[in-house]
Amino acid sequence: MNTALITGASRGIGLGIARMLAEQGYGLTITARGQERLDAVTAELRDLGADDVVTVAADLADEDAPAAIAAAHAARFDRLDALILNAGVGSAGNIAEFPMKRYDKTFAVDVRAPFMLLQQCLPLLRTTAADSPRGARVIALGSITGVYAEPGLAAYGAAKAAMNSLIETLNVEESGAGISGTAIAPAFVDTDMSAWTRESVPQESMVGVQDIVEIAAMALRLSRQAVIPKIVVGRAGTDGYRA
Ligand SMILES: NC(=O)c1ccc[n+]([C@@H]2O[C@H](COP(=O)([O-])OP(=O)(O)OC[C@H]3O[C@@H](n4cnc5c(N)ncnc54)[C@H](OP(=O)(O)O)[C@@H]3O)[C@@H](O)[C@H]2O)c1
Repeated sequence: MNTALITGASRGIGLGIARMLAEQGYGLTITARGQERLDAVTAELRDLGADDVVTVAADLADEDAPAAIAAAHAARFDRLDALILNAGVGSAGNIAEFPMKRYDKTFAVDVRAPFMLLQQCLPLLRTTAADSPRGARVIALGSITGVYAEPGLAAYGAAKAAMNSLIETLNVEESGAGISGTAIAPAFVDTDMSAWTRESVPQESMVGVQDIVEIAAMALRLSRQAVIPKIVVGRAGTDGYRA
């Protein structure tokens, strides 16, 4: 049985990826802050075909959360085929006025937590890659703002640029042994996270959750020889280089 660990699996893109993997019979560890919502999602994922579902309610801004999440997965499963570093936060504000408290929160959740979770999961990813023709995969949710600068999104963009670099370094260090990563870097995706911008960015122009799910599914189907560091997804009505 293949297994995956998905952060931010209670809503939006993370839930879409969790549903796709449940339909493929994966064993899943899912995390987010709210236990109640995770319980509701667990029931749905089991109905869809998930082999087993472990939930961990944790705030990724907490320093110890990544280790606890990795330990919960390792306690139930003896392999990790797909690590989905999806949970993220972000808020708008120009550099001149951006509060450092919000900067610290963004970097804690979007950079420190995924780095530490990857570090904690590497032993199991290595074990899995050693005996799997597809190796083991890491899918990370970056953002187009981490690739092409967007006014008003400096902290978020810088955090997401760090994600691209983390995945590229992972590929240099580990892909020869079968663990490779892909950062998906989309423009606005139609989820709760982008609701604040619906007045200026038409909802119907936003990338669909299912588009991101399809990209993740494709990356997980590849052989261990194929390494795709980054996939940028532009939005209809733009030149493809704007959020
Ligand atoms: N939507 C977009 O326009 C867009 C565009 C580019 C990239 N992305 C990236 O895609 C990823 C998923 O975004 P989304 O649009 O699906 O977001 P979303 O709908 O807001 O969902 C975010 C998920 O992360 C969890 N989460 C939020 N803060 C958390 C924290 N501090 N600790 C643990 N879990 C937390 C949420 O659950 P709880 O609230 O229960 O904790 C939820 O499951 C993010 O990394 C985001 O930056 C999104």
